[in-house]
Amino acid sequence: MDLLLGIDLGTSGTKTVLFDTAGHAVASHTAEYPLRQPRNGWAEQDPHDWWRAVRETIRAVLVKSGAEPRDIKGVGLSGQMHGLVLLDAQGHVLRDAILWCDGRTQAQCDEITERIGRERLLSITANPALPGFTAGKILWVREREPEIYKKCRHILLPKDYIRYKLTGEFATEVSDASGMNLLDVRGRRWSGEILSALDIDPALLGRMYESCEVTGAVTSSAAEATGLSPGTVVVGGAGDNAAAAVGTGVVGAGKAFTTLGTSGVIFAHADQVAIDPRGRVHTFCSAVPGAWTVMSCTLSAGLSLQWLRNNFCAAEMETAAGLGIDPYELMTAQAERSPIGANRLVYLPYLMGERSPLLDSDARGAFIGLSAVHTKPDLIRAVLEGVVYAQRQCLDVFREMGVDVRDMAACGGGARSPLWRQMLADVYGCGVKTAASAEGPALGAAILAGVGAGVYASVEEGCAAAVRAGAVQEPDRAAGAAYEPYYRLYRELYPALRSSFHTLAGL
Ligand code: XUL
Repeated sequence: MDLLLGIDLGTSGTKTVLFDTAGHAVASHTAEYPLRQPRNGWAEQDPHDWWRAVRETIRAVLVKSGAEPRDIKGVGLSGQMHGLVLLDAQGHVLRDAILWCDGRTQAQCDEITERIGRERLLSITANPALPGFTAGKILWVREREPEIYKKCRHILLPKDYIRYKLTGEFATEVSDASGMNLLDVRGRRWSGEILSALDIDPALLGRMYESCEVTGAVTSSAAEATGLSPGTVVVGGAGDNAAAAVGTGVVGAGKAFTTLGTSGVIFAHADQVAIDPRGRVHTFCSAVPGAWTVMSCTLSAGLSLQWLRNNFCAAEMETAAGLGIDPYELMTAQAERSPIGANRLVYLPYLMGERSPLLDSDARGAFIGLSAVHTKPDLIRAVLEGVVYAQRQCLDVFREMGVDVRDMAACGGGARSPLWRQMLADVYGCGVKTAASAEGPALGAAILAGVGAGVYASVEEGCAAAVRAGAVQEPDRAAGAAYEPYYRLYRELYPALRSSFHTLAGL
């Protein structure tokens, strides 16, 4: 039986899934690793932890499935975007990776904008210089840690580091490279103009591929480390959101999805390059050759609930462990006891600053309206609602840009909650489909592997063979009307608090 392997290198862990060519998960395994926050607003991870998790999860799916490694026709990689991995001439990691949700580089982003010019940068890379993106991080290391930068010979994105470990190749692909502020997004190649303006040697960057192209094959040492068969092809793969798009079949006009993962993302397919002149949402190359995407990213969606769980829900975690269930189930069950509006409590989910649509790394989270009447169910409900309002504010930008969104799916860990999905449907005012496969990005990566390996003729054909739609949750109009005044208030809170956030950041 032909099999395809999808590896999704997430922020909370790596999920590796083995699929058959009809998209059924044959075996799946997840391994977690820590997120380090050496300072308020910083976020780092150790790339060695990723490689350890990848080895462990590949071995585990091989054992669980009993599959013959030679039946795996291809490997696809999906991963958290934007992170900076620096390697020396021997391929050794020089420092912890600086991640997508790290907000330390506003000064470097200002410098990039000044060197290139805002309009020119937007017209080449399709995005403004953003602290989450990679170029600012490169300049930060060059400025603050020159000894490390001097030794750097390779700059890679997180999943591309795993590609290097599997194949020995220094390569990337267009969807993930779009989030570096260094790509000519229309031309789908590195921008010589941007690289020379920023004085970054192009030789440091990986070779560019389309997402479904073969980038190399598993080496004998990687085969020994993982249990894969040497010579198994590894395709470009995609940034996690572009991979989720393939895994949910969002590969044609009008289709979109919302991810409630660590970040909250709305992602829409676009047949042409569409750019928001204010840079509030991103324009990237799609994993589908010849197509692009428009995408928003809020930094603390699932992260908000995880923060609440880790700091205030020890009892739920203990009970859940005893019952063998997910603590989030106990938390969302409590949220259902609180009414729409959480008894007049509004949560702003800016724990790591905010990207879309505010572009402010100094913004911070807040509960507004906290009173002695509030209980834990209200706090949990307010967090769920605040995360949904943040997505709606992004969707309003898509609507303002005229981006065609007719068909919305939900994916990511948060989309497993029927309550959270219903909130999305009610607050968006449109039906929200459940992705039939819970494995979005891993399935997308596996489909791309199938295209590279010749199992499918195109990404669209792979989606037709392997992606099944789930049930649609329709909006409840009365609930939607009840959320509306809270959403309008939510939109007013950031502008009202903006200068206080900046004062706080300077204290
Ligand atoms: C997208 C983004 C996040 C990461 C983490 O721009 O920063 O969605 O890819 O998953």
